[in-house]
Amino acid sequence: MKIFAHRGASTHFPENTQSAIIAALKANVDGIEVDVQSALDDYVIIHDTYLDRTTNGKGKVCDFSAQQIKQFDAGNGEQVPTLQQLIDWNNNQTLLNLELKHTFELEKFATVLESNIANKKITADNILVSSFNHHQLHWLKSRLPWLKIGALTASIPLQYAKFAQDLQAYSIHIDKNFMNKPFVDDAKMRGLQVFAYTVDEVEDIKLMLACGVDGIFTNDPERTKHYLAQ
Ligand code: G3P
Ligand code: MG
Repeated sequence: MKIFAHRGASTHFPENTQSAIIAALKANVDGIEVDVQSALDDYVIIHDTYLDRTTNGKGKVCDFSAQQIKQFDAGNGEQVPTLQQLIDWNNNQTLLNLELKHTFELEKFATVLESNIANKKITADNILVSSFNHHQLHWLKSRLPWLKIGALTASIPLQYAKFAQDLQAYSIHIDKNFMNKPFVDDAKMRGLQVFAYTVDEVEDIKLMLACGVDGIFTNDPERTKHYLAQ
């Protein structure tokens, strides 16, 4: 089962920061999930629409430039990273799952991905873009046919995994609380990977294994890997 660090190794380090990303890399994860938002002039790695919960700033992320956001403390004196910093730190070591939060203009984002591919900062294999906004995923897949798409869902649709097949997705990322075996079986029959979020407790890890999922997002990759190795 693949292990993805959720917001980096966010149990022990401030979520979506450099230390959480470096710790995830040290834990030799199969991938790192981060949340991407659009600031005024650049893409930044932060989960909430507002700065308030994870930094000492106040207000909406989209109302500040990346440099302004960097003035705020994202925990332990760390800064909110830009997307480019994340790509550079990863240095193509593992898969980056970029979860696009909210709706933003995608043409510039597609160009950023293309230039990183052209500069060999990242390979197509090591990038997976996910979103709850499937219209955005559909647009991106048409614009960048090589791009791996992860369809996020917090529900079990009537037609099971068909929505993701229609999107030409690589994977489905589903809330662990809705996971069931018929859904996983249907997804596999359609050639899709199934990854569950967010799975930290041993009891939940066992349930995901029983359902046959291909991977889990966990806040504590080291502990999860240790448990799975037993
Ligand atoms: O990408 C999986 C998971 O992170 C989705 O929910 O709220 O933790 O970003 P959230
Ligand atoms: Mg996320």
